[in-house]
Amino acid sequence: IYTSSLLSLSLTWSLPDVADTEVSCVFMERCILPCSFQGSTEVHIHWFRLTDIHFVHLYKNNQDQLKHQHKSFRNRTSLFKDQISRGNASLQLTGVKVQDEGTYECFISTISESKGSFVNLKVEGMRKHTQKTYNSIVFVLYSVLF
Ligand SMILES: *[C@@H]1O[C@H](CO)[C@@H](O)[C@H](O)[C@H]1NC(C)=O
Ligand SMILES: *[C@@H]1O[C@H](CO)[C@@H](O)[C@H](O)[C@H]1NC(C)=O
Repeated sequence: IYTSSLLSLSLTWSLPDVADTEVSCVFMERCILPCSFQGSTEVHIHWFRLTDIHFVHLYKNNQDQLKHQHKSFRNRTSLFKDQISRGNASLQLTGVKVQDEGTYECFISTISESKGSFVNLKVEGMRKHTQKTYNSIVFVLYSVLF
């Protein structure tokens, strides 16, 4: 499955990324990264972050397979198990951090289809805060120097 994801990755990369979904997450809150497919009983759902190829979440043989999950996502990801058979492969991420920003791929593989879709995750709240802090530091420096 890993090889096939990478293959799809290189194939989809050459296409214009018109299908990217933008998701704004609030710092420290939970966030849902949407992904859907044609419902099927036998499905592999593979979430990873394209930006650094970090392994985020894998679901196959009707269960989570998190042995190789990147440590920054430990205990923070979950799927809506009761909705998977209906084609809902959305990922829930809790305690959103600024480092979570990036492009994620949801790679779906069933008997009838194999496809990847992309979600761009942006974190709100923290940036404004950082910007404010930065502005006040500049202000303090400015008033000290001049
Ligand atoms: C994840 O949860 C398990 C069980 O609740 C806990 O033992 C472990 O320390 C947690 N890991 C992290 C990185 O929070
Ligand atoms: C999947 O299920 C969750 C939880 O009920 C819901 O919030 C989300 O909108 C659903 N996503 C899709 C693509 O159906």
